Amino acid sequence: MVKINPDTLVFGIIGYPLSHSLSPIMHNKAFRHKGINAVYLYFPCKKIDGVVSGMKSLSIKGLSVTIPHKEKICEYLDKIEPIAEKIKAVNTLVNKDGLVIGYNTDAYGAIRAVKDKIKELQGKRALIIGAGGAARAIAFALKEEKAYVIISNRTKKRGEALAKEIDAEFLPFSDIKRSDPDIIIQATSVGMYPEVDKVPVFLEELFRKRPLVMDIVYNPLETKFLKMAKERGCEVIPGVEMFVYQGARQFEIWTEEKAPVQLMKETVVSFLKGERDDKRD
Ligand code: ATR
Repeated sequence: MVKINPDTLVFGIIGYPLSHSLSPIMHNKAFRHKGINAVYLYFPCKKIDGVVSGMKSLSIKGLSVTIPHKEKICEYLDKIEPIAEKIKAVNTLVNKDGLVIGYNTDAYGAIRAVKDKIKELQGKRALIIGAGGAARAIAFALKEEKAYVIISNRTKKRGEALAKEIDAEFLPFSDIKRSDPDIIIQATSVGMYPEVDKVPVFLEELFRKRPLVMDIVYNPLETKFLKMAKERGCEVIPGVEMFVYQGARQFEIWTEEKAPVQLMKETVVSFLKGERDDKRD
């Protein structure tokens, strides 16, 4: 049980809707474990014009930012870290010395998850499926690592625009087999619960070289796309890895302490397993 007193630090998440966010259970568990006097709350909000000034006047120490506010919030910040500035999206706010600063830990989370399996990304052929906000953060981060980035997207125009912006190659789904990837990152929401039988695109040739395959979807823990990759002998990274690493980086920005990554992962995984079991009953 959390003991609230005048020194309790307040953190939270803004977005809409928020009912499915797992950030509160993950961060509260981490705060308790580290003995940090802090709480992490849900702040569902449709409009964000008062968020940054409200943070300052109420001394809210930090916020996670989720859909649909990751881009729009940038207009209100005092400072934005360089990679978030390039991505033009922020998922983490910290209120420090009177300034509210924005970070993007999605990019960091994705790269850390991939680097657990492949240490050196320079020159690796990385295929990103999707061209939305998540794909964008991952594409920039992979470029920073000097990977050879290939974007493939259902809608040609959007995919081409992202590829042009980061100087990557674009391939339509109809040509995706030419990508010949070492790494595939499924960066759309396709396959997310409850539509667990869907994949955004599939071609046997995609898995020919046995690439490392990551999915950004973390519910279910193993998406159909990952299952298909595994069946074809590929090593896979479930979306929960990226989710936990982006949260761990947030925790470290806010507290300047090392995040209890393993505990955070166990908390999220056991919640997801429990939640799905409940739904099956
Ligand atoms: P986010 O910011 O969470 O990434 P988004 O901006 O809505 O979400 O982007 C969703 C991505 O998923 C897009 O790349 C989208 O493709 P389009 O640009 O063609 O819309 C992709 N996507 C969504 N549903 C899809 C589907 N059924 N098949 C393939 N791609 C899909």
